[in-house]
Amino acid sequence: MTETFEAVVHYSQNDEIAVVTIDAPPVNAMGVAVRAGLHKALSRAFAEPSVKAVVLIGANDKFIAGIDIKEFGGPRNGVKLSDLQALIEQADKPVVAAIDGFALGGGLELALAVPFRISAARARLGLPEVNLGLLPAGGGTQRLTRLLGPEAALDIILSGRHLTAEEALRKGLVDRTVATALLPAALEFARTVVAASTPIRKIIELTDKVSGVDFEIFTAIRKKNESKWRGMVAPYKIVECIEAACRLGPREGLEVERNAFQVCLDAPARAAQVHLFFAERKAAKLPAGDAAARPRPIKSTAVIGAGTMGGGIAMALANAGYEVKILEISQDALDRGLDRVRSNYATSVTRGSTSQATADAALARIKGVLDYGALGDADLVIEAVFEDMALKQETFRKLDAVAKPGAILATNTSTMDIDAIAGATNRPGDVIGLHFFSPAHVMRLLEIIRGTKTSSETVATVMSFAKEIGKMPVLARNSDGFIGNRILKVYGRESEFLLEEGATPWQIDKALQAFGFPMGVFLMRDLAGLDVSWRVRQYRARFRDPNDRYSPVADRICELGRFGQKTGKGYYRYDGRTAVPDPEIEALIEKVSADLGIGRKPISDDEIVTRILTAMVNEGAFILGEGVARRASDIDVVYVHGYGFPKYRGGPMFWAENQGLAKVYETVQGFHARFGKLWRPAPLLAELADSGSGWPTGEES
Ligand code: NAI
Repeated sequence: MTETFEAVVHYSQNDEIAVVTIDAPPVNAMGVAVRAGLHKALSRAFAEPSVKAVVLIGANDKFIAGIDIKEFGGPRNGVKLSDLQALIEQADKPVVAAIDGFALGGGLELALAVPFRISAARARLGLPEVNLGLLPAGGGTQRLTRLLGPEAALDIILSGRHLTAEEALRKGLVDRTVATALLPAALEFARTVVAASTPIRKIIELTDKVSGVDFEIFTAIRKKNESKWRGMVAPYKIVECIEAACRLGPREGLEVERNAFQVCLDAPARAAQVHLFFAERKAAKLPAGDAAARPRPIKSTAVIGAGTMGGGIAMALANAGYEVKILEISQDALDRGLDRVRSNYATSVTRGSTSQATADAALARIKGVLDYGALGDADLVIEAVFEDMALKQETFRKLDAVAKPGAILATNTSTMDIDAIAGATNRPGDVIGLHFFSPAHVMRLLEIIRGTKTSSETVATVMSFAKEIGKMPVLARNSDGFIGNRILKVYGRESEFLLEEGATPWQIDKALQAFGFPMGVFLMRDLAGLDVSWRVRQYRARFRDPNDRYSPVADRICELGRFGQKTGKGYYRYDGRTAVPDPEIEALIEKVSADLGIGRKPISDDEIVTRILTAMVNEGAFILGEGVARRASDIDVVYVHGYGFPKYRGGPMFWAENQGLAKVYETVQGFHARFGKLWRPAPLLAELADSGSGWPTGEES
């Protein structure tokens, strides 16, 4: 007979085994009712004399996906997770947690208080709190460290990743995995435990503290992640808690964890991380207008051009299990490209980020070809030839002639007009921009650019494909530079003007780094190489409005053959890889200022940062107002994941909203009065400043 508690937890008995089932669709989140129901059902089981063991399981092939998101960060009412854990840990009857679907966050923390855990082979387990700027405060840092040791706990909690059941078994997080039906296996497991009188293991009492620990690992991990964790609180607090589990007894360790959680909760960096967490999810959603479109199946893929980007894109596709044909203009170019791909894999293996077997398998999926005929069976072709419109159009004309009907034809152009490229084909509905970031097999951001004629089906297909290959898609409309590079242009432009007015490249870079960018704009340019954008500027010179202010500094530097790190000189001079300020560049900039009749004067770091960020935000507001980006938070996702904007500041648009849009507008107006037309305020910014509201939330669905 089944009894039900709080409408979401069922209790039944199978001979001497009680079965407690959480049944709170859709994901069995652990809200107030589930906790109360569990307390009653477990108490019932522990008090029932005929019960010898308990199986704790979730309905609908799920365990507990975590605490109820609605309660996140707020006070918990009623029964607490720690009450449930105490109830289980104090009981003299063994409990077996049977995990299917997801056991995440509080769900896994509950399972960690249970003496035995078995899992379906398809289940995923993890403590993802770090992604929201928090830490697992239901004893997760203390129990996991005691169960698996500090190295594994650091890895699992700091990454927040989902472990497969197989890895969980290997690490000792679960006692068994089963490929068959979970409940019968759990009952059987429980019966064996009863029959063998297997001692009940209580993690929290396993050892007073974890012994044999090399405490150097804590210093080392902090040092290793210094730049990655800058401005963040949670990762440091996680390390502190795990270290506490090794130095202190359970009671003090749990106390450290509680206090650390509170510190994370109050940190401003958390608001930024929460913003980004939801921003990333919203960005990946298909627009309502395309929702009815069915994605086309993608089985085989191809890439045109085996250069920096083409090679990286081929790796990204192969790593996700796709067969990839990669086409080059000559055998020589193909050999060079494939060599680079091979050497990238070799580096990953040396670094330990990929196993030899995985790398070999991925490499075997990449096949070099020279003939367009070989692309006829591809469902998706991504073009990554030189950034040259005539060449791209010619490539698409050839592609149009051989690609099968329904194939998606994508371009990796970083700035060019998608419509002009699509216009070279007789199927513009199938053409779309897929702007990968370098290195394409590593960077997760993928800007997806829909042209005027791109079909809903094409958009739906690539949005879902992006997720298949582990990328973070942001959908944009066609516009010069799309979202990312359009803003980068004003970012660079203002930095150059600041040079002319009195700053130096190293002062600007330092100010940007102090704000949180991993690298300043001039160091970044030197690293990427200055020659390509020089060529682009020469080509674009004819389209420039002669009345617009234009800084010739970059051109002057290139005229000296200084193309950045690869030539040993650029904005800086290079001693090996170390950038050194160069008086020659300072003199060059001073000469430019003099030639232009600009009086140089000291500029504060504050003004540098305000000016650059305000320019980015104003451009962002244009982009948003024109509908190039769907929402302000999409721009933040692009900037954080593609351009090194500090994560703990949430992105430029989030930064602006925190400043207050009225204040940002006022700053723009001030610069407009000082510097003229390039600082024209975006109409949307003016409108929002007036209304006193934040950015429009855009499409939430
Ligand atoms: P790259 O110069 O490294 O590679 C281009 C490759 O295309 C070369 O290997 C070349 O042999 C090949 N190629 C040229 N014409 C060809 C043809 N007709 N048929 C087949 N292959 C041909 O250039 P990169 O950096 O890989 O850039 C490629 C595209 O990706 C450009 O449109 C660029 O704007 C874009 N992009 C570049 C990024 C970067 O960081 N480098 C970032 C995002 C996009």
